Amino acid sequence: MEDPYLLGPYAPVDEEIDATLTVVAGEVPRDLHGTYVRNGPNPKRAAEGLHHWFDGDAMLHAVHVEDGQLRYKNRYVRTPALAAEDEAGHALWRGLMESWSHNPKGQPYKDTGNTDVLLHGGELLTLHYIGGVAHRVDPRSLETLGARATPARMSAHAKADPVTGELLYFDYGPRPTMTYGVTDASGAPLHQTSVALPGPRLPHDMAFTERYAILMDLPVWPRPEAAIERKWMVDFHRDTPARFGILPRRGDGADVRWFEADPCYVYHAVNAWEDGDAVVLVGCRCDDPIGTPDPADGRLATAMANLRLRAHLHRWRFDLATGACTEEALDDLNAEFPTMNADFAGRRSRFGYHVTIPDTRTLRFDGVVKYDDGRRVARHAFGDGVYGSEAPFAPRVGATEEDDGYLLTFVQDTRAGASELWIYDARAIERGPITKARVPARVPAGFHATWAPATGGAS
Ligand SMILES: [Fe+2]
Repeated sequence: MEDPYLLGPYAPVDEEIDATLTVVAGEVPRDLHGTYVRNGPNPKRAAEGLHHWFDGDAMLHAVHVEDGQLRYKNRYVRTPALAAEDEAGHALWRGLMESWSHNPKGQPYKDTGNTDVLLHGGELLTLHYIGGVAHRVDPRSLETLGARATPARMSAHAKADPVTGELLYFDYGPRPTMTYGVTDASGAPLHQTSVALPGPRLPHDMAFTERYAILMDLPVWPRPEAAIERKWMVDFHRDTPARFGILPRRGDGADVRWFEADPCYVYHAVNAWEDGDAVVLVGCRCDDPIGTPDPADGRLATAMANLRLRAHLHRWRFDLATGACTEEALDDLNAEFPTMNADFAGRRSRFGYHVTIPDTRTLRFDGVVKYDDGRRVARHAFGDGVYGSEAPFAPRVGATEEDDGYLLTFVQDTRAGASELWIYDARAIERGPITKARVPARVPAGFHATWAPATGGAS
């Protein structure tokens, strides 16, 4: 069976292009100035063995918006791993579903940087979900600038503080600890500490407030017997509490205060803030993160089940005075890949924008939904056969209100194989996109995205 994550909307593209986009509906807002950038896997060459959607080399797709004009470009992130394979002329790594004993010594997986993209210190950082270096990319040219010198490793979903300019990061691996640290706006190290865990863990995100960092110890961890075969396999331990660790942003790992919550996994937090003696965390909670394999998917069944994401908006409240954790389900809609106004990160915020997930065989996003203080207030479906990308919030130039701005997303019409950039008014997403512009190349389905304001924005 061919891997469905190499076909149709997931099939890689092999050209890097620059193009001015043609508006086919609506108008480009004149008060939108900056660059929308989306990361995702785009395997440049086939590797031996089974393929996993997470394996592909990183490709960035970007649209620069200025004076009502839209300029598109797509570029590979030229990582050391991709450079090594280019030089060799063939794949050097096998994918995540194969034994890592085949891979270059000391590099059990390929550090593609294909997962996350964020703006920090005026440059884009692309990060890999199991950790790696922070690959630096120029937001306008999409030229890869090399790796940040420090820290040596970080996971996807490091966080930029819009007020201090600091970067808060974490990292983990096959060891019973995780690393947490802080750099300044230039990437210079300010703080790093090790946090003890009950065993190896696989956190995917963290959060922060003005004074605290929030780390996650969730009951999903690698299967030890699989590690003996040098393979990646994980289990969900549904009777083991989730734990959220709170420490001062420059605190020592030994000072983490752990709060237990109902068993779950969390791919993505929306935001966190302080409320009196409490820390509030809003995120997307999975109560069945591993899923049930469908025998029809053959050797891909486990990976396919893991990728069928089901998550719902949820709020946890950690009382630092009493040590109590309370939690509340906020919605029953399957929606993930949340975005928000990055200027409010770590501070009390009201609005989140997620993509909705249909019950399809492969992971797709079929619409956008807006939340106001945990309430679902607006929603728009992309339409039959049309699937989109994470939709970051872009503040309107001169905006003073939290939701005064736009959402941008690439969509693919899977029937026509054509892609468009859609822009929504974040205050009226139910009305549908206010701009549709044709992209002269297909933009494959991907992972995370960001908005890089022309003014520099969040640090
Ligand atoms: Fe992620």
